[in-house]
Amino acid sequence: MFTEPDITVYLKERLQTRFMGRNVHYRESMTSTMDVARELAIEGTPEGTAVIAGTQVSGRGRLGRTWFTPLGSLAVSVILRPQLHDMNLLPAVSSLAVFNMLKKYGIPAAIKWPNDVLINGKKVCGILIESRVEARQLLFSVIGIGINVELDTSKFPEIAEIATSISSHLPDKVTVAEVALNLLTEFEALYLKIVKPASIRQAWLNNMETIGRRVRVNTPGGIEVGIAETVNMKGNLVLRRDDGSQLEVIAGDVTLLKS
Ligand code: BTN
Repeated sequence: MFTEPDITVYLKERLQTRFMGRNVHYRESMTSTMDVARELAIEGTPEGTAVIAGTQVSGRGRLGRTWFTPLGSLAVSVILRPQLHDMNLLPAVSSLAVFNMLKKYGIPAAIKWPNDVLINGKKVCGILIESRVEARQLLFSVIGIGINVELDTSKFPEIAEIATSISSHLPDKVTVAEVALNLLTEFEALYLKIVKPASIRQAWLNNMETIGRRVRVNTPGGIEVGIAETVNMKGNLVLRRDDGSQLEVIAGDVTLLKS
């Protein structure tokens, strides 16, 4: 397992990005990389700064859930400052970056709306995006990415049924540092294409298992069932209920149902 300064040195020696991950803050243990990244963003740290933790004591997930970060996971938060009108594309850019990174390893994955990444229906990556907007200006976004890299998820009862890891799908050893390197590289390549939103959106939809499927969505307002028709320009899921009415889902948890 890498400890400081190994991961920072590893990235410094190999990263060929323009700005993504050029500034790395690593600690063996943190409350959450989201908290540290937010503080750095407020202090004005450069765009692309990556905060990486060996383990997180209080890792956060979407919808108020906790995120489990055992050793062998990558927990990284990246600070970005896109234009406000591009903020809606961050779930697409970040989940596609993970999807493309897995493809380079020869692992076929799928995206589950809004930004989970699955292998054979099991979650390998979760993404949490927190942004600060003031006076119609996006001050910063923190993109928190949690990936199960080198661990046997079946040994952790908390996640055994629903999660998988990269190492379970590869014959050779894979390290957290190597995955961080590949992820930051893919992430920058896609982020630089944010000025071409149509192609990002199309790639996101093409690789999203949710579209066209009958789903149950656990939303903050209750459970909804229907066909996931598409994702609109705001990044929200468009659901066709059984009574024919349409619902725009802003946040929720999707489960695929048998059609
Ligand atoms: C989810 O699927 O609910 C999102 C999980 C996001 C987890 C990552 S790990 C790095 C960053 N730090 C956190 O506390 N959460 C995100």
